Amino acid sequence: MAKIIAFANQKGGVGKTTTAVNLAAGLFKNKKKTLLIDFDPQANATSATGIDLEKIENDSYDFLINNNIDVNKAIIRRDDDFDIIPSTTQLAGAEVELSNQSGRQFYLKKSLSDINAEYDFILIDNPPALGLLSLNALTAADSVLIPVQAEFFALEGLAQLIKTINLVKKHSNSYLTIEGILMTMTTHTKISRQVVSEIEGHFPKAAYKFTIPRSVRLAEAPSFGQSIFEFAGLSSGARAYNKLVKEIIKSDG
Ligand SMILES: Nc1ncnc2c1ncn2[C@@H]1O[C@H](COP(=O)(O)OP(=O)(O)OP(=O)(O)O)[C@@H](O)[C@H]1O
Ligand SMILES: [Mg+2]
Repeated sequence: MAKIIAFANQKGGVGKTTTAVNLAAGLFKNKKKTLLIDFDPQANATSATGIDLEKIENDSYDFLINNNIDVNKAIIRRDDDFDIIPSTTQLAGAEVELSNQSGRQFYLKKSLSDINAEYDFILIDNPPALGLLSLNALTAADSVLIPVQAEFFALEGLAQLIKTINLVKKHSNSYLTIEGILMTMTTHTKISRQVVSEIEGHFPKAAYKFTIPRSVRLAEAPSFGQSIFEFAGLSSGARAYNKLVKEIIKSDG
């Protein structure tokens, strides 16, 4: 059975996609059979992995909603890299379409049950909102990894997110755990250091002991359709994400 990790933070631009894509690449590099699900209509993870958007036949919307599709048609299988279920703007419609369905938060969990056994890890990249898409991901997941950008407002959204996680635990997924809180885009400024130590103070167990530094390389890699390991394997960003890869493999036992 796969370990399913959702990447969530309703705050935009905090590093969810960057973390999901590079972790997927790092796990694959370590011979873990890995599937990345792009569960954001912005489709950033899909473009970051160099998938040609024109060539997508079925996307994560089809995988989520359409009971008749062959799940295998939505998975883009790659011998030399992790597998991916891509996203397109079509996924935006799912929020509305599911809103009146009973059991609306369980759709992804059901779809995943068919392919769960095939993978070591399934990573789900979510949109910056706590809507039905994120709820489906949190309901399907074993754990949630929370990237937090090291800036002044970091803590404010976190309380709401933790509240949502607790609601999901109560109503639709009692097994959900927090995989970890990952500080991203850290710098040597005073404010960055303050925010990191504040998060460590509030979440001594959940906060990772390392951070992901702000690095131009990390921002550039997606435009080449490459992970940081391919694009700049010796960079500070690659070293930092390698630590996360090791940590995730270790925590999976
Ligand atoms: N450590 C980093 N150093 C420099 N730039 C980064 C870093 N991490 C992410 N970025 C850049 O910051 C922007 C936001 O990152 P990313 O897309 O991963 O965030 P996100 O949380 O997925 O955003 P959204 O909420 O819109 O989905 C991107 O342009 C990305 O390339
Ligand atoms: Mg994103």
